[in-house]
Amino acid sequence: MLLVTWISLTTWLCCAKGEMNMLGGQLGLEVPRTKLPGTAWFIQISDTHLSKFDHLLDRQKLYGDKVGDLRLFARTVLASSQPGALLITGDLVDGKTLLGRGQQIEKEWQTYRTALDMIIKESGIPEAAILDLRGNHDAFNMAERGGEDDYFSRYAAEGRRSGGGACIVSRPLFAGPYSSEYNLQAQDKCPVAVLVGLDATPEPGLRGPTNFAGTLHGEAVERLNQTLIAARSQECSPALVVYGHYPLPVIAEPDTNPWRKGGAGGAKTCSLMEVLTQHGVTAYVSGHLHAVFGQRVHRLHSAPDGGHLAELENAAWKDDRRFRVLTFDKGSFSFADFFFHTPSQPLSSSGPPSEHMHLEEGQNISITGVGKEVVVRKHMVVITSPPDARYSPSGSLNRRRQMFQEVRALVIPVIPDRTGTKFPVLPQVLLTWTCAKSGKTGQSMMAQVQQGQNLWRAPWGNYDDTCEETDGLVYIQVHALERVYGREPPPPASSELRPAALTRGDNGKPWFTTPRRPLPLHLTLMERLALGFDWQQAALKIFYSLWAFHLVGMLLLPRLGLGRGTVFPFSVLADMAAVLPVWLPQVLYGMYMVVGPWLAARYLTGEVPGLFWAGAVLFRHRGAWRWRGDPDTLRVGIVHYATCVLPLTLWMATVVSSWRRLEKPPRWPVTLIQALCLAPFLAFHVLVVYRVCFVSYDWPALLFSPGLAWTMPLAALLLGAHWHSMARQPIKHKDT
Ligand SMILES: *[C@@H]1O[C@H](CO)[C@@H](O)[C@H](O)[C@H]1NC(C)=O
Ligand SMILES: *[C@@H]1O[C@H](CO)[C@@H](O)[C@H](O)[C@H]1NC(C)=O
Repeated sequence: MLLVTWISLTTWLCCAKGEMNMLGGQLGLEVPRTKLPGTAWFIQISDTHLSKFDHLLDRQKLYGDKVGDLRLFARTVLASSQPGALLITGDLVDGKTLLGRGQQIEKEWQTYRTALDMIIKESGIPEAAILDLRGNHDAFNMAERGGEDDYFSRYAAEGRRSGGGACIVSRPLFAGPYSSEYNLQAQDKCPVAVLVGLDATPEPGLRGPTNFAGTLHGEAVERLNQTLIAARSQECSPALVVYGHYPLPVIAEPDTNPWRKGGAGGAKTCSLMEVLTQHGVTAYVSGHLHAVFGQRVHRLHSAPDGGHLAELENAAWKDDRRFRVLTFDKGSFSFADFFFHTPSQPLSSSGPPSEHMHLEEGQNISITGVGKEVVVRKHMVVITSPPDARYSPSGSLNRRRQMFQEVRALVIPVIPDRTGTKFPVLPQVLLTWTCAKSGKTGQSMMAQVQQGQNLWRAPWGNYDDTCEETDGLVYIQVHALERVYGREPPPPASSELRPAALTRGDNGKPWFTTPRRPLPLHLTLMERLALGFDWQQAALKIFYSLWAFHLVGMLLLPRLGLGRGTVFPFSVLADMAAVLPVWLPQVLYGMYMVVGPWLAARYLTGEVPGLFWAGAVLFRHRGAWRWRGDPDTLRVGIVHYATCVLPLTLWMATVVSSWRRLEKPPRWPVTLIQALCLAPFLAFHVLVVYRVCFVSYDWPALLFSPGLAWTMPLAALLLGAHWHSMARQPIKHKDT
């Protein structure tokens, strides 16, 4: 009882203090000079992959009920949090036939539209607040933006607004929930942030696998530059967030990058990264990679001026039902990642099993955080300020070290209160902290910033049990305790444990600040790898390394006698290289692989098959032939070399060598063991050929396929043509 009284008293005191401070700073705390546009929050989901085949039993088992779960999500999280914007960052539909061939299917887009309408109805968020854009799946086999098979422009929210032709759109994000006066606000209020959508899908969109990477030409980068300049040129300087489908290293820039220098319009322009960092963009958020590399594919890019750009990939709705809450609060950028669980949740969902159930019309949902310490119960807690020392300073707004005088957090009820009570039962919100060096801990009650809002605050910096300046860092966490009268309250909902940097404030006490340098992110190796290297460059380098290794290391050097001897594999390679009629065709084949087309593929419906090279494709579009440098072709080439060409060459060498070393001509060209050794490679190769030539493209790809489907048959022909003659000239005769 005493405890409750004490807590209530502190709450009241905090409230009073808070309000006084808001009114005029009687407490002597510094009132910020700039116009403060308040707190804004928005939500991101990505890669919904709505498919025509979602109703099939095995798909349902794998991916659950994507649309049904979106509905539950809208009824709960979206309805109760009322974000200023909902980002859906690409791969809205799956765009594939049952076999897996890229194809725009109108029915899927109709499903997407139904889902949007349902989100709008269930959550109360207007369509104007839904910011969606194309992913590669939304552009499979799509001849042109705004064309006949561009369903995005007819069904998607942004497509309907901007006609689907725009690659770059810019939307202001104001403080508070999206309201009907939102656009009126634009005239007299500063946006907290400007959200800039970047659609980097290639045009025309070919079928996969030649449609995985994004493409951004110089004009688009320039337009982005102008858009960011315009966003910053108003009197207020909002924070900038760019959202897109592709992570930055997966976007090819034909006009700037070393990739295809001097392509069409080859003028030297700035790169996307240069534009993003030049304007002090706070964060680039994307999707595309799902959780293939992990649940926290994040990176902080350094800007030349000492600022940082946070790059945050969001795992998919399709596999993991992931969503992200992002906030801007008085110069502090924050985000928190969650899983949304339902009874139909996908098998692959890597979140822990549902523990905290909420009843919603007989449907239970639960939410868990990606951070292990996050607990969601009836509320989800997102700290909005001070910024996380791992992800700040980011954006050039924060270039000077900022001070933050309070801890602020969004405490969002998961189930919206539909009863319309004027005085809903509010949770008690508690701030706890642990100082990094001294290990001192403390706690304080938080108070609602304004009645009816989900934003809570607690002043910082004048407690007795606060950290020392020498601590440098403090771990803060915010908890929401349900008020239950008459019985033991349930365990609290908790935010992540956020590291926040400390500096010396005016009153001599340590205050929150942006750190001089961001703290390490502590990612797994895979998570770091995903954004840590240039995918286009890597494809180029790996492919040519494999190609050169085959031609030089396995064919040319053994021919020159290098490595001749008894050690496997040098011995067998040298044995094979000594037989000109077997060796020469392989060298010619190796050379053909860089100069000749690999296969004929139907890249677009209604067009004749085009050609597939290592590093480029030639296709017909609107009656004209067009070239496109395409790093995705190299990825196919890497698989082909690593799993077929290299093992096959070694295997052929072993066979030829065994013929030449036999006393008598053998009865069979290959032994049982040799056949068994080849079998797994052969099986995998058949799979690759089936996937690339048959599923992705069309029958011409199977017929004309010197670079892929012909490899094994050509090798068999070569061996078959020579085994009789070779068996009659054993190596031993030559040597003696
Ligand atoms: C952006 O545009 C401005 C003015 O047009 C120019 O000075 C600047 O160099 C451009 N920045 C980049 C990165 O292209
Ligand atoms: C929902 O959760 C309750 C317990 O909280 C459980 O008894 C019930 O069976 C669940 N319903 C479904 C449909 O899973």
